[in-house]
Amino acid sequence: MDSELSLLLRSAMKYSFSYLFFSFTIFFSFFSLLLFFLRVNLWCNCDICRNFRSAKWLTDFDNLCDWYTHLLRNSSSRTIHIHALNNTITANPDNVEYMLKTKFDNYPKGKPFSMVLGDLLGRGIFNVDGNLWKFQRKMASLELGSVSIRSYAFQVVSREIKHRLVPLLSSVASKESNSLDLQDVFRRFSFDTICRFSFGIDPGCLELSLPMSEFAVAFDLASKLSAERALSFSPLVWKIKRLLNIGSEKKLRQAICMVNVLANEVINQRRRLGFANQEDLLSRFMGTVNDDAYLKDIVISFLLAGRDTVASGLTSFFFLLSQNPEVESAILTESNRVMGPSQGEVGSFQQLRDMPYLQAALYECLRLYPPVQFDSKFAQEDDVLPDGTFVKKGTRVTYHPYAMGRMEELWGPDCLEFKPERWLINGAFTPQSPFKFPVFQAGLRVCLGKELALVEMKSVVLSVIRQFKFELAEPGWTPKFAPGLTATVRGGLSVRVWDRMGSPQAA
Ligand code: HEM
Repeated sequence: MDSELSLLLRSAMKYSFSYLFFSFTIFFSFFSLLLFFLRVNLWCNCDICRNFRSAKWLTDFDNLCDWYTHLLRNSSSRTIHIHALNNTITANPDNVEYMLKTKFDNYPKGKPFSMVLGDLLGRGIFNVDGNLWKFQRKMASLELGSVSIRSYAFQVVSREIKHRLVPLLSSVASKESNSLDLQDVFRRFSFDTICRFSFGIDPGCLELSLPMSEFAVAFDLASKLSAERALSFSPLVWKIKRLLNIGSEKKLRQAICMVNVLANEVINQRRRLGFANQEDLLSRFMGTVNDDAYLKDIVISFLLAGRDTVASGLTSFFFLLSQNPEVESAILTESNRVMGPSQGEVGSFQQLRDMPYLQAALYECLRLYPPVQFDSKFAQEDDVLPDGTFVKKGTRVTYHPYAMGRMEELWGPDCLEFKPERWLINGAFTPQSPFKFPVFQAGLRVCLGKELALVEMKSVVLSVIRQFKFELAEPGWTPKFAPGLTATVRGGLSVRVWDRMGSPQAA
C-alpha cells in the first residue's frame, strides 16, 4: 500500500514538474516572441519585405541569390536592408573591407550564428569569436601554411584521383548508359580527401557501388538541418522544437550524436595508431591539444570547411566548361605545354603553378559561382558603413560574393560572361582586391584552406579533362540551388561522359 502511495506521489510530482516546465517553456516562448516582434519589423509593408514574405520573387528568379543580386544592382549604394529579417546586405567593396578588416571587432560571427551551428560545431573555429578563435586560427595557420602540409595534400589528392576518380569515370565512360551526377562524384571525392588529409583515415566514399559512409551521411544531414534552422522565420521556432525534441530537431540531435560518436572514434583510432610522426592535420593538433571534446570540434569544423566548398566549386566549373568549350581547349593547350601531351595526371606541384590560364579559369568560376554565396556577421554596436548606411546594434550584416561577381561597375559590362582572360595581364595571373572578390572571405578571417582548395581543384580539373569529355545530360539546363551553408545544386549535375581516346563522340 505504502509503495503504491509513494508511486502515486512520485508520478504526481513528476507531472506537476512537467506541467511547471511546460508552462515555463510556453511563457518563455511567448515572451521571447514578443521581444522578437518588437525588435524585427516582421510585418514591414515595403515592396522588398512583401515580396520576401509572399515568395513572389520566385516568379522572376530561380534563386534567392539572383533576386538579391537584382535588388543590389538597383540600389545606388549597392546596399539593401530587409526589414523583416533585420538584415543589411551589401555588395559594396568599401563596406566589405570595413566590416572584415577596419572594424573587424564590431562584426563578429555573433551569438545568433553560433547558436544555429553550435550543436554541430561546438567550439570549432567556424563557430567562435574572440580568444577561442584567435588560438585556433594561430595554430591552424601555422599548420596549413607549412610547405610540408601542402605537399602532403598534393599526395592525398593525387592518390584519390589516380586510384578512385579516374577508374570510376573510365568505368562509366565504357558503358552504354554513360551518365552520372558529377556533383555527387565531387562530394564523395572531397569527403575522402578531406578525411584523409585532416585525420589520416579513408572513408572510401568514392566507390559508387558502396553506400556513402555512415559518417558522410550523418554529417550531411547534420549540416543540412543546422542550416535550415537559419531559415525559420524566428530562432524561437527551432529552439522550441529542440526543447521538445520533435520533428527536424529530433533528427538533428540524432545526426549530431552519430557525427560525435564517429568523430570521437577517429580521434581514438588516431591515438591508438600513434600521432607523433603522422602528417595529417589531426595528428598535428593532437601534439598541442589534450582535450578530446575540443579536438572533436576542431575535426568537425575542418570537415565542414573543406568538403562542400571544394565540391561546389568543381561542380560549377564543369557546368561552365560545358557552356564554354573554348576555355576547355585553352586549358588543354596550356597543360600540354607544361605536362606534355601524354601525361594523364599532374606530376608535380610545380606543374600546377606554371599554368596561369587554369588558375584564371578557376577564379573566374568562383567569381560567378562562389561556393559560399553570402556570409553574415552581427553588429556589436551602432555603426555607419562607408556608404552612409546606418547599422543598428544587433543587425545582421551580410556581404554577398555572388552578387558582387555580377556587378557591372566591379567587373565591366561583360560581368555575366565566363572570361578567364580578365584575370590575366600579359599572360600572368593578376589577383584582384579580396574585398571586391571576397569568395574566400577577406581580412582577418580569410579562409585558411584557399591554397589547398586550389591545388585540389586544379589537380582534379586537369586529370579529368585530359582524359574525359563531358556533355550536359539535359541541354539548356541551368543550376538551381538548394538552401544550405554551401551552394549545392538541386538535383545534382547530370552529365554524359566519354573517354577522350576511346570514343568517336569525344573527338
Ligand atoms: C573553394 C573552396 C573554399 C572556399 C570558397 C572557402 C571559403 C571560405 C569562406 C567564405 C570562409 C569564411 C567563412 C566564415 O567565416 O563564415 C572560410 C573560412 C575557412 N576556411 Fe575555407 N573555403 C574553401 C576551402 C577550404 C578548405 C579546403 C579548407 C581546409 C582544409 C578551408 C579552411 C577554412 C578555415 C579553417 C576557415 C575558418 C577561418 C577563420 O574563421 O579564421 N577552406 N573559407
